[in-house]
Amino acid sequence: MENNHFEKMAKRYDTEDRIELAKVIINEVKPELQNSKSKSLLDYGGGTGLVSLELSELVDSVLLVDSSKQMLDIAEAKITTKKIKNARVLHTDFTEKSPDFKVDIILMSLVLLHIPDTQKILKELFNTLNNDGKLIIIDFDKNNNVSHPKIHNGFSHDEMEERLSEVGFKSNEIKTFYYGERIFAKQDASMFISSSIK
Ligand SMILES: C[S@@+](CC[C@H](N)C(=O)[O-])C[C@H]1O[C@@H](n2cnc3c(N)ncnc32)[C@H](O)[C@@H]1O
Repeated sequence: MENNHFEKMAKRYDTEDRIELAKVIINEVKPELQNSKSKSLLDYGGGTGLVSLELSELVDSVLLVDSSKQMLDIAEAKITTKKIKNARVLHTDFTEKSPDFKVDIILMSLVLLHIPDTQKILKELFNTLNNDGKLIIIDFDKNNNVSHPKIHNGFSHDEMEERLSEVGFKSNEIKTFYYGERIFAKQDASMFISSSIK
């Protein structure tokens, strides 16, 4: 898995480019969290918290889950420094151990491409949501200019729709929202947001 890769780069993860891209993602996710003040948000593969720590005021609680301890250490330091009272971290990997709790909303930003067995993680996330819960995925559109043995080269909307329906989501809305230069393995690429209801 990519875990080791992120353990090594955690302290260098928050570059200007990644912070800028996170801002684009935050702006896209915000409308999805309207009227969510009483809801629990789980940020799967939350990393250093670039996205979800900026969303904490819109929800009741934020739980950053990641398989990289080093990435979470950076997130935890931010939670302390910024005095974010409703956020905490959890070091685990749902593809290896199923969680024993449920939440209202799950966000997965730029993580699915790093998980070899996409069906397994989508099923685990489906099971972790309360009824009528929402899964928000941000990832790259299928990109034939990207080829790397450890990552998926993005996902087509049809493929996402099929996979999400297969694990049980009753409705899915998927749209491309951003085109950027050299944002995916140094290639120009577009990102999609997918919003599904259990
Ligand atoms: C590209 S970073 C994205 C971080 C954050 N979501 C963001 O948008 O800034 C991918 C993150 O996914 C985590 N990750 C990769 N595979 C994972 C898995 N199977 N379970 C949990 N986290 C995973 C990595 O450790 C890393 O922190």
